[in-house]
This record gives sequence, structure tokens and C-alpha cells, in this order.
Amino acid sequence: TTTRHYQFDIKMTNVTRLCKTKSIVTVNGQFPGPKIVAREGDRVVVKVVNHVPYNISLHWHGIRQLLSAWADGPAYITQYPIQSGNSYVYNFTVVGQRGTLWWHAHISWLRATLYGPIIILPKLGIPYPFAKPYKEVPIIFGEWWKADTEAVINQALQTGGGPNISDAYTINGLPGPLYNCSAKEIFKIKAKPGKTYLLRIINAALNDELFFSIANHSLTIVEVDAVYVKPFTTNTLLTAPGQTTNVLLTTKAEYPYANFFMEARPYATGQGTFDNSTVAGILEYKNPTSLSSSSFNKSLPSYKPILPALNDTSFVTNFTKKLRSLASVQYPANVPQMVDRRFFFTVGLGENPCPENHTCQGPNGTMFAASINNVSFVMPTTALLQSHFAGKSRGVYASDFPIMPLAPFNYTGTPPNSTFVTNATKVLVLPFNTSVELVMQGTSILGAESHPLHLHGFNFFVVGQGFGNYNPAKDRARFNLVDPVERNTVGVPPGGWVAIRFLADNPGVWFMHCHLEVHTSWGLRMAWLVLDGSLPSQKLPPPPSDLPKC
Ligand code: C2O
Repeated sequence: TTTRHYQFDIKMTNVTRLCKTKSIVTVNGQFPGPKIVAREGDRVVVKVVNHVPYNISLHWHGIRQLLSAWADGPAYITQYPIQSGNSYVYNFTVVGQRGTLWWHAHISWLRATLYGPIIILPKLGIPYPFAKPYKEVPIIFGEWWKADTEAVINQALQTGGGPNISDAYTINGLPGPLYNCSAKEIFKIKAKPGKTYLLRIINAALNDELFFSIANHSLTIVEVDAVYVKPFTTNTLLTAPGQTTNVLLTTKAEYPYANFFMEARPYATGQGTFDNSTVAGILEYKNPTSLSSSSFNKSLPSYKPILPALNDTSFVTNFTKKLRSLASVQYPANVPQMVDRRFFFTVGLGENPCPENHTCQGPNGTMFAASINNVSFVMPTTALLQSHFAGKSRGVYASDFPIMPLAPFNYTGTPPNSTFVTNATKVLVLPFNTSVELVMQGTSILGAESHPLHLHGFNFFVVGQGFGNYNPAKDRARFNLVDPVERNTVGVPPGGWVAIRFLADNPGVWFMHCHLEVHTSWGLRMAWLVLDGSLPSQKLPPPPSDLPKC
């Protein structure tokens, strides 16, 4: 195997957006961060050196981390953060995956500026299951605050209210010309006519699912979350924070004498406030009448894409239904046909009481909270994987995470009388190789909202989804066990449910959470603890010697 070495120096860097300069946390002074390129089967070694006054931890989102849970990265789950002045080497092998993933900080809200692409090429000599593109272009959506994002989330957590919304969405760090004071900060694809481009689209925004479209061009979806899908063509795609989507874009056969806007803006169904602005970039065609070889049509585009309405759940449902595994001989869909354990989780918002002598800005003067089966996960102060490995769970976590809601209620109807959550650090223990079916049911407590749930350490198959309350007798019979999409992040529909299956073949402690950062911060998170199997090749190896200490 080839080993790919990277050094990530975490540094403060001044960046100006929307006419305001702020000092942000970056990797190697770059924003967005550098891309990691590897082939399927390669080993990736990233030395992270922390030069900033924050605790840092990085996560390789969507990388399976088979037998390498120590490299997964969520702070206080698999490791202590890397303290200022210290370093840690993340070391993992890319097994059975090819496509686009990404890396990001996994502590507090530092992922607002610490993120970048992971590009996994197929093994040497193995082609894509589609025609070789002329060029590959990473497109990362982000969210930009003029204020310091650590201050934004800390203030929200102290007052119990919602955090201030972002000032802009960005494409590759650039807000684009639809924002004030951003005329020059525009992402452009310099297009040649009659070519096919592979866009590697990553949603690194903190709190919003996004629609994306390019005026007068269609997009062919070929892969999501580093798994090939049956190709289909659409004008608009939806991407939730955490998700990645590879699409083919074929440019006009002839020079069109025009440029075209690409735009992204949110899909939002909740009642809270959100940034409903639009980020624009430009698909800029080269001007064939010019003698200069570097001359592009510089006029601002007059063609704008038509994006769905902000709350267009029927577009979203139709779009997600089209996502199917390729399920070919070469790329089979290994959907667990038999299930060992079934779990039913409610996901949604709730409240915590306001501490005495405090004024809280959450619902009715309480503090916002979020939970799974009414447990709002409290971050431990000891890393769970280390306590588990040392056999010292006492006082760190409890193993009694509820496998279903303690008191069932009408999840999509009137909320129960008490919407207060239970605050605890609980994990759910799975024997090695357990075949799991998990139904995640959205609740309407404080509003029905789509929650993109992300599971670390596994891909899962999305075998079913629907609206209203999940009804096992009726709904399970309709599960797709043939070609369901395989991914690592899935939206639980607002006022509905989603069913996933996965095989717990990876020992370790694996975080699962809503990838809307505000919901994670409020407690919409939990952890699975997958035990070792009996064979040596089924056991979590000991931690690397440089694993950060407390
Ligand atoms: Cu991309 Cu736990 O996150």
C-alpha cells in the first residue's frame, strides 16, 4: 500500500469577508483547508500540530476507520483534544471506499473554519463507473459569521437561546455577489464548451441543508457519501450538512455567449430563525472570439437558477427517493437481510429548566435542548474510547441508552405534557457483528424539522422512510432491501421517520449525532459501543503512543 503523508499546522490566520477581517483557525493558513487525496486501499497519515490557543480535534467524516477508532477524532468520544503546543498523528487506511468525503474539526464550533475535502480515487487501473471527466472540481458549501463563532455558540449555550444566524453561505469560502460587500469574492468554474466536469460537492455548512442548482444546466448524480449510486439527472440537488454528492456537469456544446449563476440556499422547515440568504458562484465560459488564450467572458451572468421554495419537502422527498445504490456485480449493495437487534429512536428538540437567577432565551424562558429518546447527551470529560479500552467506565458513562422511548407518545401530533429532557452520558452496547435496524422518528416537539443524522464508523443502508408515526406492521413490509442508498448521513424527514440498517463490524465507540451543529450542541447525540469480536482481526488495537492525554 501507498502511504500519503500530510502535515496540518493549526494556525490563526486573518481572513476578510463581507468587508470585515477576523482571525480564524485554519490548517496551514488555508481557508478552506487543504485537500487530502488518496486511492482506495492507501494509508493516510496526518500529523496535526496545534499552534492555536484552542483545543483541537479533527474528524475524517465518512472514513470507515476499520480497526482504527483511535483516529476517528470526535473530542471526548475517541480522544482528548490536542492541546495548544501538542500534536497527534492520525493514521488510517481507506478500505472499500472511493469518492468524496471531507475532514473537519470535531470540537465545539471550530468546524466553521476548519474543513476541507477528502478525495478517494479508485484503485490504480480501476475506472469510474461513468465516462472519465475532463476535470474534477471540489465545491464546498460553508457558513460565514462576521463574529467569532466560538462566541456565537457559547453565548447561545449560556442563555439557552438560539445562536445568532450566519451572515453568509459560502462556496469554497466565498460568499459571492448577492451579498453586500462581496463583489469580488466569487467562486468561478472556468468552463470549456462540450466538456464533462465532475463536481465533488460537500456540505460543510453548520446549520442548514442546502438546495443547489446551476442555471440552464443539469446535474447527473453519480455518487453520495463515497458510494456510487444509479445515475440520475436533476436540475437541483439537496445536500445536508455532512453529506457529499458527486455530480457530472456537461457544459454547452457551443460557446453560449453567456455566463450562468450557480446558487445554493437553505431547505428549512423548522420554526426557528435561520439564514435564508443565497450564495452564488459563476459558471464562466471562455470567450472564443478573443485572441488571448486566458480570456473568459467577464460579464455578470443574466441567467439564474430556479431553486425550490425554502420549505419544499415534496421536492426533497422525490429527490431522496431517486437515490439508489448502484448494486452492480462490481459494486454490490450488502444490505443486511436479517436483523439481530431493532431500535427505535425519537429525535427532536426539547427543553431544560432555566438555572436559578438566570434569564433564559429559550422557549417560555427555558433553555433549548435536543435529545434522542429524550436523552440529551452530556459530553463526558474523559474520552469514552479510552475509558472503555481501560475497562474503566464507572463515573464516565452508563450503558443503558434506551432502545426505544420510555413513554411513547404521538410523535407527529400534540407534544407530550412535559418536553423536558433527561441529561446523561449513555451509550448503547452492541456485540461484534450485530446486524442493526434503527428507525429514527422525528418528533414535533417545538416544531417539526429535518435532522441530518450522521453515524461515525459505518455506512448504513436507508431501507425506508415515510411521514407521520412509524408503523412497523405496515411500513417494514415496504423496506427496500435490494438497492437502498448507502451513506453515512441521512435526513430524518420533518414529521416523519427513516429506517436504516448496518452491520456493527467495527469495534470501538462511535458517535452518532445530528449534523446541524446547533442541535448537536443542544444534545442531539449519542454513542454506540461496539465490542471486540473473538478473532484477533476483530479486536480494537491498543491506542497509539501519542494519543492526547487529559
Ligand atoms: Cu461530520 Cu461527528 O461529524
